[in-house]
Amino acid sequence: MESTRNKLINLLSKNNDQYISGQMLSDELNISRSAVWKHINELKKDGYEIEGKSNKGYRIIKFPDKMSENTIKWGLKTKWLGKNIKHFDTVTSTQTVAHEEAQNNAINGTVIVADEQTKGRGRITRNWQSTSGKGVWLSMILRPEIPPQEAPKLTLLTAIVLADVLRNYVHVEPQIKWPNDILINGKKTAGILTEMQAEQDRIWYVIVGFGLNVNHTIEELPENINYKATSLRVETDTEWKLNDLIQEILVTFEKTYDYYLEHGFADIKEKWESYGFKMGKEISIKTMKSHWKAPFLGITNDGALITKDMDGNRTTLYSAEIDW
Ligand code: BTN
Repeated sequence: MESTRNKLINLLSKNNDQYISGQMLSDELNISRSAVWKHINELKKDGYEIEGKSNKGYRIIKFPDKMSENTIKWGLKTKWLGKNIKHFDTVTSTQTVAHEEAQNNAINGTVIVADEQTKGRGRITRNWQSTSGKGVWLSMILRPEIPPQEAPKLTLLTAIVLADVLRNYVHVEPQIKWPNDILINGKKTAGILTEMQAEQDRIWYVIVGFGLNVNHTIEELPENINYKATSLRVETDTEWKLNDLIQEILVTFEKTYDYYLEHGFADIKEKWESYGFKMGKEISIKTMKSHWKAPFLGITNDGALITKDMDGNRTTLYSAEIDW
């Protein structure tokens, strides 16, 4: 059940720059005018800037910077993504919560986001350090009508969405390291984890989760034996507002995803390659059995790595690690 406080925020947000009278709020919320006034004072204490004018009523001028369902939704210009948002101060993993929500019929485009994850998960059973308030730890529930074998494309699509936002909004030059690490200056700033529940020919749901390191100082960055990490703050010397970044990402994701469903994957694959780390260059490849050097020739339509095997024959690899 939606709380009175959230209903009040929704009413005040809907009308944007128009005032809404105390009487109307009291009627809509079914509470007394003095109760409306108390709620408004509580919101002010939480950092909402609310203007009250006699004879006119109230309007919100500014939302607080703290992340919440309301502050992410305020001014969010999407059609379907993030219409349902669940925010947690702390959670084990937004992926785990997203699976639970999806199994309880959460709608397509539901977003699960947390300030902190205590058991953030990375690829190949790695963990993902998710310190409170330092980054975006977010999972999206998607219900695409595509065959299950197409689902890996959503990981590549998410990678170009993050890269586009970093290039166009943060003004850095990102690269994507196969399969799905986002790098700035050769260091990892984001990772993507895609999980799905499907039958042989039908997807029930896909969870696309990503972690983006934002406001860590150098000292606060995760130490990892596999790679070097960075954050937007380290790369740009600026502290970023998480709410604004999330909105940019959700808007860009929705646009790119709708484009893919309508026009197919060719343009997205081409864009991925334009961001590809070491594209056309020699890479060092590690599989379960071998370790060798070969050129990175591109990716297939389903995201496999195109390269050469140890005998110099063209090959595609679905799982391997590229050295840094
Ligand atoms: C990787 O690079 O290994 C993927 C990291 C994915 C981390 C994100 S943070 C939000 C979501 N919740 C998780 O537990 N993992 C993903």
